[in-house]
Amino acid sequence: ALISLRQLLDHAAEHGYGVPAFNVNNMEQIHSIMQAAQATRSPVILQASAGARKYAGEAYLRHLVLAAIETHPDIPVVLHQDHGASPAVCVQAIRSGFSSVMMDGSLREDAKTPASYDDNVQVTADVCRIAHAVGVSVEGELGCLGSLETGAAGEEDGVGAAGKLSHDQMLTDPTEARDFVARTGVDALAIAIGTSHGAYKFTRQPTGDILAIDRIAAIHAAVPDTHLVMHGSSSVPQEWLALIRQYGGDIGETYGVPVEEIVRGIRSGVRKVNIDTDIRLAMTGAMRQTFAQQPAEFDPRKALQAATQAARGICEARFRAFGCEGQA
Ligand code: G3H
Ligand code: 13P
Ligand code: NA
Ligand code: ZN
Repeated sequence: ALISLRQLLDHAAEHGYGVPAFNVNNMEQIHSIMQAAQATRSPVILQASAGARKYAGEAYLRHLVLAAIETHPDIPVVLHQDHGASPAVCVQAIRSGFSSVMMDGSLREDAKTPASYDDNVQVTADVCRIAHAVGVSVEGELGCLGSLETGAAGEEDGVGAAGKLSHDQMLTDPTEARDFVARTGVDALAIAIGTSHGAYKFTRQPTGDILAIDRIAAIHAAVPDTHLVMHGSSSVPQEWLALIRQYGGDIGETYGVPVEEIVRGIRSGVRKVNIDTDIRLAMTGAMRQTFAQQPAEFDPRKALQAATQAARGICEARFRAFGCEGQA
């Protein structure tokens, strides 16, 4: 059944677990997540970016998710708009049947330059009024996702248009979080603690100076009724990087967010954990391996089945690690 993010994360908070929110763009990704959820009896957050709706086509994406819900009637599913860049994107998602939207007002509509705090409050409060009127949940974002190693905010390649920000500018401030929640009414709040999107998060295994898991408890204490969200939470498993390289991929040395650090975050109050890159890496590794090992094969289903199995493995591992097993 389709449920709202608020319903699911209230349950997660009551029972002390976190829920992975996996990005979806196509049937194979949805298959892998739903199979993993069914095998572990876990609740599901499927999230789609504006780019995903454009890639699949709005109606295709909607019907794929409806098919998942029909196929797995006993698994609760949240359909969430990831990183809505404007109220218009959020309203489109609501009309398309999403049960949750993210209004990312931390950046201007170009999705690159940091927005002013007051603009973020206003645009997020506007979306809350609209969404809550029809039972849809809202996630806001406060602080700039980005690397504490380089001081670069925004973009995946680590050279955000925003240029360099100071260490403190990049992290979510607990006092500001309390004001933001009071003025907007968000159900969930994405926080900045040093993570960034994509495969290139850290040039070494992260330590406390570049991954601020220790800040989460203070933010949670400031906004105890708002569910905290960690973006950029792929772990970038070294074994998948090695497999991609083994079969001809060109991918540099890089490190993600260790699963045990995410688990520490969940113990401090994180309830939603955004993961896209790990599924991309697993699927790419499996497809490269299939094509390399079976050069005569030209049925794409062979590679896509391997990709689905690989992504399913990642999803099952995250459901188990985050405490979702048996919660559906
Ligand atoms: O936040 C970024 C997500 O990984 C979605 O990425 O815009 O390429 O679909 P995308
Ligand atoms: P990753 O790139 O670490 O998977 O993060 C995804 C994300 O935060 C989507 O909003
Ligand atoms: Na999101
Ligand atoms: Zn994100």
